[in-house]
Amino acid sequence: MNVQVLSTLDRGFRTLRITEMLSSDIPAVVAIEKHSNLEPWTEESFLEELLKSHSSLFVGRLSVGAGEFVAGFICFWLVADEVQLLNIAVHQSYRQLGIGRCLLVHCLNCGAERRSRVATLEVRSSNLAAQRLYTSLGFQAVGQRPNYYGRLPEPAILMELVIAEPPLFCEARARVYKREPGKPLFFVH
Ligand SMILES: CC(C)(COP(=O)(O)OP(=O)(O)OC[C@H]1O[C@@H](n2cnc3c(N)ncnc32)[C@H](O)[C@@H]1OP(=O)(O)O)[C@@H](O)C(=O)NCCC(=O)NCCS
Repeated sequence: MNVQVLSTLDRGFRTLRITEMLSSDIPAVVAIEKHSNLEPWTEESFLEELLKSHSSLFVGRLSVGAGEFVAGFICFWLVADEVQLLNIAVHQSYRQLGIGRCLLVHCLNCGAERRSRVATLEVRSSNLAAQRLYTSLGFQAVGQRPNYYGRLPEPAILMELVIAEPPLFCEARARVYKREPGKPLFFVH
């Protein structure tokens, strides 16, 4: 599914478009990943995910003049009645503009459209920025996984969100989005 998310961002007037990740996007995605995660995924990790039928990968493309560049990405699995968030990152120069929230809402709406019941994720206990993003959309901490990250000496916090119908989800949980049935999300912040 390719969904266009139109967003007017603060630093200049730009448009954000969320589309399926292509293999040609991987170098840009890996560059973002390297500056975002302590144990970054490699090109091979992203290629492997692209080949899995239950894995969904999207990028957020920011327009600049006539061109576009990849400013963030999200990877999640749709398995049984669950959405499992595996990875999300935004280019460090374009953080705190709402791109992460756009990507996550898009992920949750993909789940809602597939009648997923719940979304789950793990986040480092020291990653407060990500935790605030998740709680701003209604995720709650439901447990901890000690030694989850192998060589990183901190636990993962397990978070969960019960997903409602798409229109209800967006009206009830997201402060800055509207979504009408059959239409793309749009950002009204
Ligand atoms: C987490 C991340 C994806 C957020 O992306 P973003 O585009 O900057 O997030 P948004 O602008 O959509 O912010 C949404 C909410 O998240 C919270 N948030 C985001 N960055 C924050 C920060 N640095 N400090 C505190 N809260 C923050 C805020 O609640 C914000 O809502 P508000 O602007 O209404 O206050 C980004 O910081 C990132 O790429 N981090 C590195 C990778 C990572 O940690 N991924 C998560 C792995 S579990």
